[in-house]
Amino acid sequence: MKSVIRMGDPILRESARPVGEFGSPWLKSLVDAMWEAMRIRSGWGTVGFAAPQLGESVQVITFVYPESNRRGIPAIPPTVLINPVVKILDDSMEDEWETCLSIPGMTGKVPRHHRVSYTAFDIDGKSIGGIAEGFHARILQHECDHLEGHLYLERIADLATFGFWEEVQSQRNAGALQLPVR
Ligand code: NI
Repeated sequence: MKSVIRMGDPILRESARPVGEFGSPWLKSLVDAMWEAMRIRSGWGTVGFAAPQLGESVQVITFVYPESNRRGIPAIPPTVLINPVVKILDDSMEDEWETCLSIPGMTGKVPRHHRVSYTAFDIDGKSIGGIAEGFHARILQHECDHLEGHLYLERIADLATFGFWEEVQSQRNAGALQLPVR
């Protein structure tokens, strides 16, 4: 099992390079390793992941959100986006709790744009894209930030919301904390 790179490692601050060759064994094994990293930590509510978190500074993200979630959020099927580009569609923002496997044990409330469009490629180089709203848009913004060397911590508007997950959870309604993005 590959370990997840944590905040402090300079690779998380790099701009990831685009993938140039699709469908390669290297790309497939990277994506497999990303799903594996998420699966092992799924008990912690892992929903999204970015290649730099495994030490590969390339533009690959993975995410999934299960049907059986407590918040009634629309499920997101397992998705791999290569070289994703996200565009903000309007100015409306939403605050929600985020976490990140690269900042283990911590959480904070992060404003994100409610609605974005995205274009990307799948693992075989086929063009994909669409419009994402709410939690789906949040995952895209969090994971694409990783590809530009940004962590959610920088996006927190009120640092008083940043703290250890267990402490914050004990202070708040547990239901308000079921939206981790990794
Ligand atoms: Ni993250």
